[in-house]
Amino acid sequence: MSAGSRAAALFETTFAGAPEGLWSAPGRLNLIGEHTDYNDGFALPFAIPQRTAVAADPRSDGRLVVVSAERPGLVDTASAGLAPGTVTDWSAYPLGVLWALRQASGEEVLGGGLSLAIASDVPPGAGLSSSAALESATALAINDLAGLRLNRHQLAAAGRLAENRMVGAPTGILDQLASLLSRPDAALLLDCRDGETTPVDLGLAAAGLAVLVVDSGVQHRLSDGGYAQRRAQCEAAAEVLGVRSLRDATLAGLEAARERLGDVLYRRARHVITENARVLSTVPLVGQGELRELGPLITASHVSLRDDFEVSVPELDAIVEAALGAGALGARLVGGGFGGSALTLVPRERTDDVAAAVARTFAARGAAAPTPVEVHPSAAARREA
Ligand code: GLA
Repeated sequence: MSAGSRAAALFETTFAGAPEGLWSAPGRLNLIGEHTDYNDGFALPFAIPQRTAVAADPRSDGRLVVVSAERPGLVDTASAGLAPGTVTDWSAYPLGVLWALRQASGEEVLGGGLSLAIASDVPPGAGLSSSAALESATALAINDLAGLRLNRHQLAAAGRLAENRMVGAPTGILDQLASLLSRPDAALLLDCRDGETTPVDLGLAAAGLAVLVVDSGVQHRLSDGGYAQRRAQCEAAAEVLGVRSLRDATLAGLEAARERLGDVLYRRARHVITENARVLSTVPLVGQGELRELGPLITASHVSLRDDFEVSVPELDAIVEAALGAGALGARLVGGGFGGSALTLVPRERTDDVAAAVARTFAARGAAAPTPVEVHPSAAARREA
């Protein structure tokens, strides 16, 4: 059953009635451009087929009641006074969006309350942004139910605010923009300084290529310290370099300030500067249909994330190495790192070889082999019913 059917069924059994509507939003895979978004930089994500659905209905008893097919129990809290700190479990994602939309509109949005039933196909902790999928589906639902008429950029901002303030993960805008604005068969070039989004047609199938996602099985959490520390290091490096953000830094400026930066800040900044350049080199290659040329850029991104940004883990390095050895054109960790998934760009005729090589690597480490999943660039968040 699709996430949408499961969310609708869960709503009916929990609330003994039909919801006013059903909305869904996808997870995302970032082709290239990692840890650039909160540095005002560039990224090139696309929406994946796996989605999170929410069935929703306004209430009139002043309660916010949330259930999820993936979690036990039910969250029931007061609509009045919803604020950071009042919900501390997983419901901080959807209820954080309601709070953020109240901030954005200056109104007590759905003050009478809300019933929400959630189901998801996006694996949590796999670096595929299950959180943004939930936030984006919820934001669309509330926008419709309350007649807010906010645009998708404003809804993305609300999702990010929810994550930053209610959940306490200091993430950028990449995931929410990808979930709300992607197009099928295209990647989305993001300029995270002004929020501009430009679809870039991909044509993976026509080029005989597949993107396989391999889950390392190492769960990551962005509200743990590593992500926030990287972000703070980037801000510190920008300050030493005398630029507004690392988006404005150059390799020449970086070399000139090497001693003042010290080794760690130097390497963090080098990752961001070179990663932005890799995104900007990727776009024309895609435009010219030279998708096979993306491989080295993707692998260079991994090396930079591993060595300069230090957000990889041995399991991800092993997947990348195994995939490249079995004929992948490029491979890298995706998302925030510290676990999660790797993406591999593979000629279609080599996908079985890559899967077998990854399985052998995991077997040699005494771990269960992950099953690589092929992902196609898919549709953005939408109302389903
Ligand atoms: C996570 C965050 C994003 C982005 C990536 C790294 O997915 O939610 O904002 O920073 O990590 O590129």
